Amino acid sequence: MLTATTFSQLLLLSTCSILMHSYSSEATVQPPLTTKLVLYFQDIIAGPNANDIPVVGIPGKLWSFSQFGTMFVADEPITETPDPNSAMVGRAQGMYVTASLDGSNVQTVFSIVFTNQAYNGSTLELQGAGNQLQRVLEFAVVGGTGKFRFARGYTTFETISFSQGHAVVQLNVTVRHD
Ligand SMILES: *[C@@H]1O[C@H](CO)[C@@H](O)[C@H](O)[C@H]1NC(C)=O
Ligand SMILES: *[C@@H]1O[C@H](CO)[C@@H](O)[C@H](O)[C@H]1NC(C)=O
Repeated sequence: MLTATTFSQLLLLSTCSILMHSYSSEATVQPPLTTKLVLYFQDIIAGPNANDIPVVGIPGKLWSFSQFGTMFVADEPITETPDPNSAMVGRAQGMYVTASLDGSNVQTVFSIVFTNQAYNGSTLELQGAGNQLQRVLEFAVVGGTGKFRFARGYTTFETISFSQGHAVVQLNVTVRHD
């Protein structure tokens, strides 16, 4: 359970540019909300607790993130701070495929499946071609469910630590949604 303090830290900025605008006595229009989240993926690529694993690749080639045609499947905890023992926000479930012949770009299709109090049961859908050679990758937020219906936006992806097969990836997500 999140405490009030951690919850407000997580709650990030949920703002509504205009609350409600009446065009007639009947019709009301509620413009999109903008929500900004800072989240941390706990990505483990080695050892018994690996949660990000190559599942298929080109026969005869190394199955590697830098090898065209390698597909990974992941189910990673998402936490509120970089500390893997901090409060759980949800899970990052999806896949990515090295999809450029030179091995630089990964085609990424991920759902953020929220389990925290604020967004329990809602999802955000991330997709795009990220260049792994860059320090910061950017992916589109192409949709969402629950509290994030009609979501559109973007997220940055930055690996802020890596040790013994465990990467911590910071996501800054900005989405407009209903
Ligand atoms: C999230 O929803 C599930 C299923 O309804 C429920 O079991 C769980 O307690 C909820 N978690 C939080 C943090 O509210
Ligand atoms: C993400 O947000 C954090 C906290 O505001 C900030 O320190 C960091 O520079 C941002 N990262 C990117 C890639 O914008």
